[in-house]
Amino acid sequence: MKDFVTIRDFTREDILHLINQAIGRKNNHIVQPANQKKIASLFFENSTRTRVSSETAAINLGFEIIGFSGSEGTSVKKGEPLLDTAKMFQGYGVKALIIRHSLAGSARFLGDNLDIPVINAGDGSNCHPTQAMLDLMTIYEKFHTLDGLKIALVGDLKYGRTVHSLLQALELFDTQVTLVSPPTLGMSSWRVEQYEEHCGRTVKFAKTLKEIIPTQDVIYMTRIQRERFPSGAEGEIEYKKIGGKFLLEKNMLRKCLPSLAILHPLPRDKNNIEVHPDVDSTPYASYFIQAENGLYMREAILQALIKRELKGRKTNSSPKEKLFKKMKVIDGKKMGEKLVYRLDTGILIDHLAAGSAIRIHSLLKLDQIRDKEIVICSNIRSNKLGRKDVLAIHDSKLTPQELYKISLVSPNHTINYIEQRQVVKKGKTYLPTILKGHLICQNERCISRKYHLEYCKETFIVESQQPLKVHCHYCELLMTGDEIEIDS
Ligand code: NCD
Repeated sequence: MKDFVTIRDFTREDILHLINQAIGRKNNHIVQPANQKKIASLFFENSTRTRVSSETAAINLGFEIIGFSGSEGTSVKKGEPLLDTAKMFQGYGVKALIIRHSLAGSARFLGDNLDIPVINAGDGSNCHPTQAMLDLMTIYEKFHTLDGLKIALVGDLKYGRTVHSLLQALELFDTQVTLVSPPTLGMSSWRVEQYEEHCGRTVKFAKTLKEIIPTQDVIYMTRIQRERFPSGAEGEIEYKKIGGKFLLEKNMLRKCLPSLAILHPLPRDKNNIEVHPDVDSTPYASYFIQAENGLYMREAILQALIKRELKGRKTNSSPKEKLFKKMKVIDGKKMGEKLVYRLDTGILIDHLAAGSAIRIHSLLKLDQIRDKEIVICSNIRSNKLGRKDVLAIHDSKLTPQELYKISLVSPNHTINYIEQRQVVKKGKTYLPTILKGHLICQNERCISRKYHLEYCKETFIVESQQPLKVHCHYCELLMTGDEIEIDS
């Protein structure tokens, strides 16, 4: 694995390897002399711990730091696209690039387009994988395992990126996760669905902090991410509704387990405090140790990337996948007799999902065609599918782009090429595992959205063909066939 962009890329073994490396570093800390090699640290968003610990980690490994904290004073203010800025640092010879940016998928986009390792230090409200790693290290140090624990994630689970990455990591360990949040700031249902699907366990939900305290091994508190709320009065009202509801105070801890660990990625917000400072002196407060662990974990991550030590999870997609697979044409087979119309020459798209032909008709802009016969059959009986749609276009052929678009609406249909009432070619379409272009990610803060002007081509990974489920390669959003917007 070249980059450290999302926990999804790593295995349980990778995670345990990094934790052991980081603990080893903590116990026997070596600071190497500067060796003139450089690391780029590009922080477009505010940061204290992540930036300082990442940069200190790099310095301790012998690197020098170039970069910026806040884009004020850089050419970003002149409208420079993100990739240009990053490429320039690569050109200056940096060995790795650490990025924090407000757009989801920004680190993935850079990782795909640079040769050097890219470390995601937080991409909008999407994820924060190095934070999740130091969270896991802190839990591991305390319990000597990551299995068999009850872990509650509390607070802003909608916009909080640290809990998104942590939940992805907990998939790989035998944990009982409870989510506690204000109703408007719950974990997105697709994230919960993915967790449950990937590990086969369900998450629990609780309404109050009080009810979960006696049972949990780990309580992971988070700050309300005020800066990610909608702007203006709407956001203000939403924020005011939440204020103070999820405050953890010392007197609430009377019935907690003696080994409880309270974690918080920090900062806590003094305007709306989540963990009262009176908790700091209890044996449960682990958040300052957690922040310190950030240094050792980030040393371990940077070192492992530079040495290419992490195996990563395998993806089974191949760029050579075929969209169209030929089927055998049975000699002399005629088309048309069984149908409600006659097709002499053209294409007949069969086995379309019932109800999909009209959508395909408009997607292929067939409504603008005036000189060809087009026949749409909807909900006709089918032995294979129960009900199906069929679409016939006279005197026409399909471009690969058109085939691809049809497959997005209804994968696995059959295409018949007909000449003088004979089927001359026949085949099935299969969606490739990687879909590029024509789909629009539904996350407005995803780097692939055109209006962000980052020239990042929409890319989706097919998780299942039927029913169609894809996730955005950049921001990881999971979308089902019905939610997919196709860009015609
Ligand atoms: C977190 C972040 O930036 O997402 N902080 C951090 O990296 N330690 C959490 C937060 O800002 O609330």
